[in-house]
Amino acid sequence: MNALQDEMILPNGVILSNRIAKSAMSENLSNKNHEPTPTLINAYKVWSKSGAGLLITGNIMIDSNAIGEPRNVVVENRQNLRQLKKWAKSVEGTNTQLWAQINHPGRQAMELINSNLKAPSAIPLKTAGRKNTTKKVPEVLSEKEILEIIEAFGNTAIILKEAEFSGIQIHGAHGYLVSQFLSPYTNVREDRWGGSLENRSRFVVEVYRKIREYVGASFPIGIKLNSTDFQKGGFSEEESMEVVKILSKEGIDLIEISGGTYEAPTMMGKRKESTIKREAYFIDYIEKVRQITNTPLMLTGGFRTTSVMKDAVTSNQLDIIGIARPFAVFPNIGNDILNESRLDFITNIKKTGVKAIDGMMNIVWYESQIKRMGQGKKTNPELSAWSVFFNYLWLIIEHKLKSKSKKPVPSQELK
Ligand SMILES: Cc1cc2nc3c(=O)[nH]c(=O)nc-3n(C[C@H](O)[C@H](O)[C@H](O)COP(=O)(O)O)c2cc1C
Repeated sequence: MNALQDEMILPNGVILSNRIAKSAMSENLSNKNHEPTPTLINAYKVWSKSGAGLLITGNIMIDSNAIGEPRNVVVENRQNLRQLKKWAKSVEGTNTQLWAQINHPGRQAMELINSNLKAPSAIPLKTAGRKNTTKKVPEVLSEKEILEIIEAFGNTAIILKEAEFSGIQIHGAHGYLVSQFLSPYTNVREDRWGGSLENRSRFVVEVYRKIREYVGASFPIGIKLNSTDFQKGGFSEEESMEVVKILSKEGIDLIEISGGTYEAPTMMGKRKESTIKREAYFIDYIEKVRQITNTPLMLTGGFRTTSVMKDAVTSNQLDIIGIARPFAVFPNIGNDILNESRLDFITNIKKTGVKAIDGMMNIVWYESQIKRMGQGKKTNPELSAWSVFFNYLWLIIEHKLKSKSKKPVPSQELK
C-alpha cells in the first residue's frame, strides 16, 4: 500500500488524484510582454505527464509595475487570455489539476527592473540572495494603493479562472507582499493594516475575500504561508498558527506551509545539516498546525526520498507532499514516486566558484532546467553554471533596454 496514491477530496468537493504536488517555481519564461510562451506551456505539458495530482504554476504577477523577475508572466487584463487558455489546457486529458499562483513582490520586487518599490513600511531589504543586494528604501503604500492591490488580486484571479486554470494559490510566503504585511518586522504601520496581528492579517484576509467574491464558492483557493520568516522580530510560529485559524474559518481550501524570506532563505534549504538530512524542513511546525485546523495541509521544502514522503502522509502529519526543485530535474517524478520506480530525488546544482553568482544559482539553475524541458530537451544535471549566469544577465539587460523604450502606462488604464 502506498498512501501517496490515495486521492484527496478538498472540503469543496474538488478531487486531487494523489498526494504529490509540484510546488510553485518561477519559470521566468514569458515573452517580453509578460505573456506565456510556447516554451512555458510545453514545460507544463511535460509536467502534466509527471504523475502529480496537482501542479502549481510559478508566481504570476498581478501588476506589470511590480515584478519579481524579468520574464514573469503578468495577468492584469485580458490581453493575453488566449495564451493563458493554452497554458491552462496543458493538463487537458490528464488527472492533474493546474493552479495558478498569484503574487505581488512589494519590497522584494527586483530593483534592477522596477522603477518603484512599494511596501507596507519603508524598510529596505538587508540583503537578498537573488535580488542583487538592494538597499533601496521602499515607498509606503497608501490606503488607496492597498485597496487597489486587493482589487488587482481579485482581478487576476477571475481572469485566470476564465482561462480555465483549476484553482488559485495566493503567495503568502517568502517575504513577498502578503508576508510583508503579516510580519511585524516589515510592517510597522500605525493604521488598520499594521500593529496587532488582527490588523497585520487584514491584508491577506481581504485578498482572500476579494478572490472568493470573484471566483465563487466552488473554485479552489489555496495559500502558501510561512511557518515563520526566521527573522528576529518577525512573523512567529504562534502568529502563523493564528493566521491558519483565521483563513480556515474563512473557508480556504488548501494551506501550503513553507518558511523564510530572501533575507533568510530557509525555504531553499538554509537549515541545519540535520534538518536537511531529515528532509521536510518545516515538519515540526505542520504537526502543530494539524492540531488546530481541519483544512487540508501541504508541506513543501526538502522532501527528497519516497520513504520520507510516504511516512509523512501515512502518519497523517499532512495531506499533500509539495516538491519543487526535483521537478525541474526529474520530469517523471510523480510516477516514479507513486510506482516506487525511483526512491530518491537528490539534485546538485553546479557552481561557478564566485559567491555572489552562486547565491543565485539555487533559483536560476533550476529555471534553466525548466526552459530545457519546454524546449523539448532533456534536463541536464551537468548544466554549466556560467552559461546559466550569462543567459540570466542577458534577460536583465534586455528587460532594461525594453523598459527604456517603453512609454509608462498608468496601471489603472491597464485594468
Ligand atoms: C527556480 C525556483 C523558483 C521558485 N519560485 C517560487 C515561486 O514562484 N513561488 C513560490 O512560492 N516558491 C518558489 N520557489 C520555492 C519553492 O516552491 C519551494 O518552496 C522551495 O524550492 C523548497 O522546496 P524543494 O526543497 O522541494 O525545492 C522557487 C524555487 C525555485 C528553485
